[in-house]
Amino acid sequence: MPGIVLVGAQWGDEGKGKATDLIGTKVDYVARFNGGNNAGHTVVVGDESYALHLLPSGIINPNVTPVIGNGVVVDPQVLFEEIDGLQARGVDCSRLLVSEAAHIIAPYHRTIDKVTERFLGKHKIGTTGRGIGPAYADKINRVGIRVHDLFNANHLHDKVEASLHQKNQMLVKLYNRRAVDVDAVTDELLALGERLKPYVANTSLVLNTALNEGKTVLFEGGQATMLDVDHGTYPFVTSSNPTAGGACTGTGVGPTKITRVIGVSKAYVTRVGEGPFPTELFDEQGEWLRQQGHEYGVTTGRPRRCGWFDAVINRYATQINGLTDIVLTKLDVLTGLKEIPVCVAYDLDGIRYDDMPTDQAVFAAVKPVYEMMPGWSEDISSCHSFDELPPTCQAYVKRLEELSGCRISAIGTGPQRDHIISVHSLVD
Ligand code: IMP
Repeated sequence: MPGIVLVGAQWGDEGKGKATDLIGTKVDYVARFNGGNNAGHTVVVGDESYALHLLPSGIINPNVTPVIGNGVVVDPQVLFEEIDGLQARGVDCSRLLVSEAAHIIAPYHRTIDKVTERFLGKHKIGTTGRGIGPAYADKINRVGIRVHDLFNANHLHDKVEASLHQKNQMLVKLYNRRAVDVDAVTDELLALGERLKPYVANTSLVLNTALNEGKTVLFEGGQATMLDVDHGTYPFVTSSNPTAGGACTGTGVGPTKITRVIGVSKAYVTRVGEGPFPTELFDEQGEWLRQQGHEYGVTTGRPRRCGWFDAVINRYATQINGLTDIVLTKLDVLTGLKEIPVCVAYDLDGIRYDDMPTDQAVFAAVKPVYEMMPGWSEDISSCHSFDELPPTCQAYVKRLEELSGCRISAIGTGPQRDHIISVHSLVD
């Protein structure tokens, strides 16, 4: 009954695709459990690559059933754009299953996301502007629209009316915007629902049945640990639970069915959007990492903020997610550095923090305590085993493992899919 959870260990964009590729052929279902089209991963189809935001990565493997769980917020327009784009390239998407309990991102959620950010000014979160936060806010406020609501015109009209009642007041009176028309939105959503219908299923039942039959399910998290609404750098977070617990609530599968939790970490750290980032580099070294690592967002194209590996964050990710394995990506990006700083703890006014401070005012003010590791200059992309890595590179990985409190089971050594060293199997 292998239920494998895959999460980002830092602030996202760690390169989860590498881990998915390693697990790839052994998986029967890939289920996304949180977030929406704020995520972004590049999927390679033959010679072509395609940027996906909402579809689970398993969509390209014909032997995998891709599932969008109840914890995901679904923008049907984006979903169809992605399906159309893949089908035009010959990828069959008919296996896709979408939870009937997933919440919908309606056009007004996108509008509210953008106007709210503008209104927040210097307090803005730096969201992706995709309507994620407002859709989750409606879910928690109990005025959200769920997938199964799209199949009953009268019922949907009532729900849209309830949802827009307060929002229209806010849009008109506070933001000086036009009110959203209930009938027009209802018609639009009904049409989208018609197209969505063939994909809709009781995905909790499907996944539990699969696990009971001994099938392998990969639970794929969007975003990452430090963007978790409960455990991340609140308020500079996304509005869902990208941590391992979210795999259960976001798919309707119990924690006793989870057998493995894999965290993906870069060999350094990046972040997009606002919020504290202790090891961030503001000098040419940060720019060098950005260029070497091609650190620009897949979803928004924004340059990513770059900094050194932060072991406090990784220890925290091990704790919060109960990690069993780490996949360390983009180690090759550090090739050529004489020395590599690794943040082992934080300091604030002479007080040392070995563990993540919960108080975000403290976290925003801490300074990293660095340990210097010797670098390497050899090209590591052709190394196929840990032993083939230069000794200083091995020492760097070993130190990261020790500091993270979790074994490093795979190492990314270059941009290609096969640029990966497998140290321990991620499935058996
Ligand atoms: P939202 O998820 O669009 O509400 O954005 C909230 C925060 O999460 C912002 O800082 C975004 O930049 C960040 N974020 C959302 N999705 C991702 C992702 O997939 N990778 C990295 N950062 C993300």
